[in-house]
Amino acid sequence: MSASRRRVPDDAWLELWRVDLAAEGTDADVGLLSAAERNRAERFVVPAPRRQFVRTRAALRRILARRLGCAPGAVKLVTGEHGKPSLPGGTLSFNVSHSADIALVVVGAACWGGRLGIDVERAAPERRLERLARRFFAEDEAAFFLAAPPGRQTDIFYRLWTLKEAYLKSWGTGLTFSSRRFSVALAEAGRSEGGPPGQPAGPRLLRTEMPGDRPQAWSFVELDVGAHYRAALCLPSLRGTLDSRPEPYLDEEATRLRDATDLAPPDQR
Ligand SMILES: CC(C)(COP(=O)(O)OP(=O)(O)OC[C@H]1O[C@@H](n2cnc3c(N)ncnc32)[C@H](O)[C@@H]1OP(=O)(O)O)[C@@H](O)C(=O)NCCC(=O)NCCS
Repeated sequence: MSASRRRVPDDAWLELWRVDLAAEGTDADVGLLSAAERNRAERFVVPAPRRQFVRTRAALRRILARRLGCAPGAVKLVTGEHGKPSLPGGTLSFNVSHSADIALVVVGAACWGGRLGIDVERAAPERRLERLARRFFAEDEAAFFLAAPPGRQTDIFYRLWTLKEAYLKSWGTGLTFSSRRFSVALAEAGRSEGGPPGQPAGPRLLRTEMPGDRPQAWSFVELDVGAHYRAALCLPSLRGTLDSRPEPYLDEEATRLRDATDLAPPDQR
């Protein structure tokens, strides 16, 4: 076993869960929520986002409860300064994202230090993508997007966007740290597309102005969650090198999408 592999803790487990938001929510879902979460649900005026929130939060509770060995309704969640939910004491690390009919949850061991970030977006071609790219992308990312053939622009936009969002969500800063102060490159054809030539393959962080951070401290994975969606996961690189081989813990088992519907009792799906 190489020295780099030995540095990976045995308990660096990771699970990815998919929640189907197209299905109707049930009273059982609402019953799992805390009083504060129910209040929040009631404040949604439009039914679709309300259903999205309730179903996702109930699924999150079931996923965490399975690992914690408690009832879903007994899971205690706290919210960070900029809205990132976590468990008190960081017993497990997790993050959540939802878009249209899909929610994704990543959950992993305490060794991730709460630094897991996930993002999913429904990728629709829109005229405002160019404006958004100029506003939210770093200069090199925007230039890469704008130079792409029109037929590829939607795809490139959402791949960059979800990778960037996943990085911000790992940190939990929201947009208090500008999305223009770091830059990512896509993995394509044996090298990082959009990055300088000679860089190893793999979506990666090219530069960051986050205080104390460095590009090689992070790994990224683009997730295949189905047509019309783009999704990305960002997590600390336990190996911490510029090596482009997949991290040893990102094996097939870790990156397999599990169906959160299976966690609800049959009469509550
Ligand atoms: C707050 C933020 C996480 C919202 O992201 P979003 O894409 O709208 O929403 P997502 O569905 O991916 O994530 C929302 C979930 O992330 C979690 N979350 C909330 N605040 C978070 C934070 N600061 N950090 C990490 N996770 C957070 C919550 O679980 C939330 O779900 P909930 O509302 O059901 O509790 C934030 O990154 C943001 O405001 N982004 C704006 C979009 C943008 O301009 N991005 C620029 C990319 S180039």
